[in-house]
Amino acid sequence: METVVSGIRSTGKLHLGNYYGAVRNFVKMQHEYNCYFFIADLHSLTTHPTPEDLYANVRQVMVEYLAAGIDPEVATIYIQSDVPEVVELYLYLNMNAYIGELERAASFKDKVRANPDNVNAGLLTYPVLMAADILLHHAVKVPVGKDQEQHLEMTRTFANRFNRLYKTDYFAEPHAVSFNKQLVKIPGLDGKGKMGKSEGEGNAIYLSDSPEVIRKKVMRAVTDSGPTQPNQPKPEVIQNLFTLLEAVSTADTVQHFDELYNTCQIRYGDLKKQLAEDMIAATASVRERIHDISNDNDYISKVIRQGNEKARESARKTVAEVREIIGFRKF
Ligand code: TYM
Repeated sequence: METVVSGIRSTGKLHLGNYYGAVRNFVKMQHEYNCYFFIADLHSLTTHPTPEDLYANVRQVMVEYLAAGIDPEVATIYIQSDVPEVVELYLYLNMNAYIGELERAASFKDKVRANPDNVNAGLLTYPVLMAADILLHHAVKVPVGKDQEQHLEMTRTFANRFNRLYKTDYFAEPHAVSFNKQLVKIPGLDGKGKMGKSEGEGNAIYLSDSPEVIRKKVMRAVTDSGPTQPNQPKPEVIQNLFTLLEAVSTADTVQHFDELYNTCQIRYGDLKKQLAEDMIAATASVRERIHDISNDNDYISKVIRQGNEKARESARKTVAEVREIIGFRKF
């Protein structure tokens, strides 16, 4: 059975981008692959969370993983920092990762632009830690959103370089995947780009948002004054709403609004109402379970203990083999 690895940073509540880009794929893949899904709490340290926030955010992602339908009896769910072997592998891979290529990573450039006062070394080597996460369990498939594609390319580079250096074929090449073949990028509601946690309040719809909050956010989404001629290409802000509709609605609904747009009869208010109701329906079961699971401390602790043990077993084996390949011998 092929191995799948993926993770989400513990930076707060999960939104529809995380869901359609990652978690929904996790749930669909768990029965067909040997899956490891983790909470990337080490990665979240780049932005210096307080200990209280770190704990609360790790717990929140764990609750939402379970609420979304990841089954801990089938998939291995664990917390990255509970498997310290990953840090050792990260160090080895760092010896073969070059400053130039790390500086050229799109995610690094974005972070530097957004926060020039916090360009730390952890941020620079972020893709190396991500490669260590993936290679630690020999994953070949990594379900992620489109924004992570370059990181997977870098992972392949690091894996191949290790193999070449030590004249081995130890690491296989992992690839970014989506259950629906195409990697997705879910847009935000501000009309500017992807849905994200740091893009400002109102841009993201969270899995835990109540129906009232979802309606309010969607009704405030940016639009324009409408098409003036039939069959014109849609401007980005409008295309974004259609992309969201494609994610949560049926093909018939999308086609219906597409026809209205193309014949200049569209009323954005109607489109938004439909979009909000379909978002509410698409997230209903997850939303309900978030509440129940969040109150069950014993269950959460049991899942974490069980997952950590399984993940460490696989991690210890890999790190022992890597040490052997590198040439650390017992005296
Ligand atoms: P993170 O925490 O930013 O996002 C978690 C997952 O959600 C996806 N995602 C989106 N997909 C589509 N549209 C969006 N608007 C959107 N926003 C977020 C991301 O692509 C990702 O799949 N580096 C990773 C975490 C990580 C990881 C790994 C992932 C660490 N180690 C190993 C895979 C394998 C990150 O920051 O994701």
